[in-house]
Order: sequence, then structure tokens, then C-alpha cells
Amino acid sequence: MKRGPVIAIDGPGGVGKTTVSKKVAEKLGFTYVNTGAMYRALALAAKESWVDLSSDAVLKDFCTGIDFRYDTGSGRVAVDGVDYTERLWTQEAGELASKVSVKKSVREFLVSYQRGIGEAGRVVMEGRDIGTAVFPDADVKIFLDASPEIRAERRRLELMEKGAQAAKEVGRELEERDRRDTERAVSPLKMADDAVMVDTGAMGIEEVVKQVVNVINERLRIGDTRS
Ligand code: DC
Repeated sequence: MKRGPVIAIDGPGGVGKTTVSKKVAEKLGFTYVNTGAMYRALALAAKESWVDLSSDAVLKDFCTGIDFRYDTGSGRVAVDGVDYTERLWTQEAGELASKVSVKKSVREFLVSYQRGIGEAGRVVMEGRDIGTAVFPDADVKIFLDASPEIRAERRRLELMEKGAQAAKEVGRELEERDRRDTERAVSPLKMADDAVMVDTGAMGIEEVVKQVVNVINERLRIGDTRS
């Protein structure tokens, strides 16, 4: 039997991916999955276990031995019974996640976990490699983008709201992360050939959500008439 639709939403940091993806999932009545949260939780857990984050072999051992749980209802992530949810959105967690996500062992572990969650369908999954590596056969692929200046400004505002003092470093760090995400050897951040690009720079969130939902509905309708 055909599974329900899988919607992949990819793009760099600061494009409004999380806000847009959550709202899109809500409008469609689909499950929302944030894969960045998984990389963040795994990175924090590895660091706290004194794992050598530069060693693929050590990280592989670590991944093999852990009890990793992402709750699709609440979005909470726990590793070996420790809930990391409240600490996921710090700049430190983002940096660590970007560093461990270049490792093959980490990607293999999380990609397989993400496929397990998404295979039943009726899911909106956001990340960097959903349309290219996790679900290359996703029913609809969206790539959100915006200029580096706009993305840095959005991240800065986001961090300021959360009370971070290091907001002026945002542009440089985002640039560094973009470079690491796009240049890594294993499934780098890249738009899938069959993805629809949506520039979030010139529109408000509600407008972006509307446009993305329209693209999804249109694609799903075309898919239905073909099968
Ligand atoms: O989307 P985010 O900022 O929460 O992601 C944090 C880091 O995790 C990002 O710099 C790269 C990594 N990541 C990834 O490699 N693949 C994904 N599907 C999601 C995140």
C-alpha cells in the first residue's frame, strides 16, 4: 500500500524553516519533524559523555550504544533518558551540531532514524538533506532560501529575543556554518534537482506558508492523478 505523503523542507539557517515547516504541517494536519533538533541533541549528549567529536570511529561507537528518542508529538529529544529539549536552541548546540553532522557515522545513524519516523508518511520533515538523502523520493520538496544578510538579521533578532549577548557575532558564525554545511563530503546542503525554491527574503511568514501550502497541494494533486 502507498504510504502517506512525505514533504521535505530544506534550506540553510535563518530562512525561517522551523516556523514555516511547523505552520505548514499544522495546516495540512501532518506530523512535523525537526531533524536539526536531532543533530543538536546528539551533539550535546556526545559532548557531555566526553566523546571525541572529531573521531568518526568513536562517534560510531557512541551512536551504536545510545537510546535515542525524538517524540513527534512534542518535539522533545532525549538521549539515554536525558531530555535535551530546553538546551537545543543555544548557539553552542548549533555549533556542535554543525560539527558532528559532517561525520559519516552520525549521518548514517540519524538518517536511518529519520527514515523510520517518516516512512508512514503524512509528515513534514525539515532539515538540510531531506530531499537529497533522507527521502530522495519525497512527494514534494521545498527549498527555502534568502540572502545571507537577511538570514543573519533574522538569526540576530531570534537570539536577542532569547537574551543572547553575542548577537553581533551572528553573521560570521552563520557564514562559517553555511560553509561547513555546504562543503561537507557526506550529503552536503544542496537543493535537490526536483525541489521548488521559495525565497523567504521578500515575504512575511504567513505569505511564505501560503505559497508553500499551495505548491504542496498542487504537487499532491498532480501526483494523485498520475497514480
Ligand atoms: O537547522 P538547525 O540549525 O537546527 O541545524 C543545526 C545543524 O545540524 C546544522 O548546522 C547542520 C546539521 N543538520 C544537518 O546536517 N542535517 C539536517 N537534516 C539537519 C541539521
